[in-house]
Amino acid sequence: MSAIEKFGFFQRFLAPPTPSPDTPGGAGSIRRGRNLFESSGCALCHTPTLTTGASTVAALQNQQVNLFSDILLHNMGPGLADNILEGSAQGDEFRTSPLWGLGQRIFFLHDGRTTDLLVAIRAHKSAGNRQFGPSEANAVIDTFNKLNENKKQDLLNFLRSL
Ligand code: HEC
Repeated sequence: MSAIEKFGFFQRFLAPPTPSPDTPGGAGSIRRGRNLFESSGCALCHTPTLTTGASTVAALQNQQVNLFSDILLHNMGPGLADNILEGSAQGDEFRTSPLWGLGQRIFFLHDGRTTDLLVAIRAHKSAGNRQFGPSEANAVIDTFNKLNENKKQDLLNFLRSL
């Protein structure tokens, strides 16, 4: 087997990250944060669970995967736009980042511009300009911004538990 094939197998069969039931912030906070994630609209793009399709490998077939992404492209507005055209993605289009394993990551967004989760969330919001339309996430981020500080912290604890 070539090194590339071995690497391919390694990646395909790597187990998904295991979310923590109680760290950080405790089980209650994480549970409330999960509910707020859904009720605020984050889950409209960060789909909690998708099911895999047919596969020649039984272990990969019809499996529920808690990746927190719809794996689709979204117009995110001028604030995130990098003007890079990649495949069918226009300059302000990005594929929803899977949020699994988020608690292990340090740098967020496609260019790693921040280590602060709140900044990463607020960067989803941006008004349109002459080149790009407004971000699809604007209404959801407005809802997030209106949450009180305890609720925001619950949502952050949930994200960090993934
Ligand atoms: C319109 C779709 C959409 C909605 C709604 C949305 N997101 Fe995102 N999210 C994205 C996309 C697309 C990216 C990737 C952006 C980039 O890389 O610049 C992203 C990236 C992120 C990241 C960075 C992940 C990483 O590893 O870099 C976090 C954290 C995040 N979203 C949390 C949230 C939260 C919390 C909410 C709700 C308040 C939310 N998102 C709502 C589409 C969305």
